[in-house]
Amino acid sequence: MSAPLSPLPDSVAIAVRNVSKEFRRYSVRNQSVKAALFRGSRGTYEDNWVLDDVSLDIPTGSTFGLIGSNGSGKSTLLKCMARILKPNKGSITVNGRLSALIELGAGFHPELSGRENVYLNGAVLGLRRKEIDQRFDRIIDFAGRQVAQAIDQPIKTYSSGMYVRLGFSIAVNVEPEVLLVDEVLAVGDEEFQRRCYQRFEEFSADGRTVVLVSHGLSSVAAMCDQVAWLEGGKLLHVGQPQQVVDAYLTTLDFGRSASVAVSASPGVRLSNIAIEGSQRRNTVTEVGEQVAQLRTGETARLRMSYETDQPHDLPVFAFSIHTLDGTLAANPCTIGVAGPARIETQGTVELEVPSLMLVPGAYTLGAAVFDSSGEHAIDRKLRLVRFEVTGEGQSETRGITALGGHWHGPLFDRP
Ligand SMILES: Nc1ncnc2c1ncn2[C@@H]1O[C@H](COP(=O)(O)OP(=O)(O)OP(=O)(O)O)[C@@H](O)[C@H]1O
Ligand SMILES: [Mg+2]
Repeated sequence: MSAPLSPLPDSVAIAVRNVSKEFRRYSVRNQSVKAALFRGSRGTYEDNWVLDDVSLDIPTGSTFGLIGSNGSGKSTLLKCMARILKPNKGSITVNGRLSALIELGAGFHPELSGRENVYLNGAVLGLRRKEIDQRFDRIIDFAGRQVAQAIDQPIKTYSSGMYVRLGFSIAVNVEPEVLLVDEVLAVGDEEFQRRCYQRFEEFSADGRTVVLVSHGLSSVAAMCDQVAWLEGGKLLHVGQPQQVVDAYLTTLDFGRSASVAVSASPGVRLSNIAIEGSQRRNTVTEVGEQVAQLRTGETARLRMSYETDQPHDLPVFAFSIHTLDGTLAANPCTIGVAGPARIETQGTVELEVPSLMLVPGAYTLGAAVFDSSGEHAIDRKLRLVRFEVTGEGQSETRGITALGGHWHGPLFDRP
């Protein structure tokens, strides 16, 4: 497969060296079997480098995150690590027994029962029958009651959640030294996800290595020791999780998803979207961007400017606040409020929030303008501005909203 390699030091679990992977994209005409036969292997195609000279050391015992937008090459890199795909250039060396959970149901045989698939999978991962026998109950137990009940049914009758549960349960219970997981957790329910994360923690406490591909940026930032960011097949950043996640979010905001005009009626453009607390504090991030800092409960002003070439009657303006993992935290709009009857040329819209009741954390702000129905966006800028909420002495730190209530009771009666 690859050139002979010098052995890895124990401190490195996976060494990725100058890995490039191309998929040939054949032009439509040459996709037919007939054309391929006539042309032999010389059909016309475009080279499509999905991984481009990626080098990376994943430290032994670390939980390592891989982020990047759709199609950036994350799954391809993971498949190369798992030897499901072979890089065109470069090499990957893995220290220790590896198990991977990469595609939903990959490695399962649809006609076989859950039980038979456990044995099949275990064998593929290098376990003897006896070793699988010993682990069987643990596997089924972790997968949950639903899977246990269906264990003798053909696996093609399983729901996606059941697939993932069984697949994950096999992958973690064969005691791999290196575990690769690609996003699949999103399919499980919340309780299962929580158990999986707990399992990752046990894994790293045991000194095992986990590589995790995910779009759940706050979990990545919280769980991983290091994060790598792939874009267009290139490795852009490797480093401290929050810094890499922040850098990634910045391009998300100012790049591709920055402006989506969805309406047939042209002409309103939003700009200068901002949030400001009454104390106007800023920080500067690693990538040199200014980030507004507010405090839980502080008065906040949200602002946007608009510019239009033609008048619009009864436009609806809205702000959106998202957590870093993409949950919509708030979405105030001018429906039901005395918004402008008509806008012409340009202006600004401001929302004063008397008390910003977000728990401490990082958020993004976006803005949108809709037509009078409130259904068709004329311009929308999602997750454009990042801001931080701090809350020294703030007792509410979890969830999204701080309720800011007052506790009462006989034992609370201090003045
Ligand atoms: N088997 C394949 N044949 C041809 N092209 C492929 C193949 N697998 C992936 N690609 C292409 O490679 C690129 C990277 O795909 P990959 O699945 O690695 O992205 P990803 O980062 O995992 O994306 P996502 O976040 O959507 O899961 C995409 O442009 C995809 O279309
Ligand atoms: Mg993928």
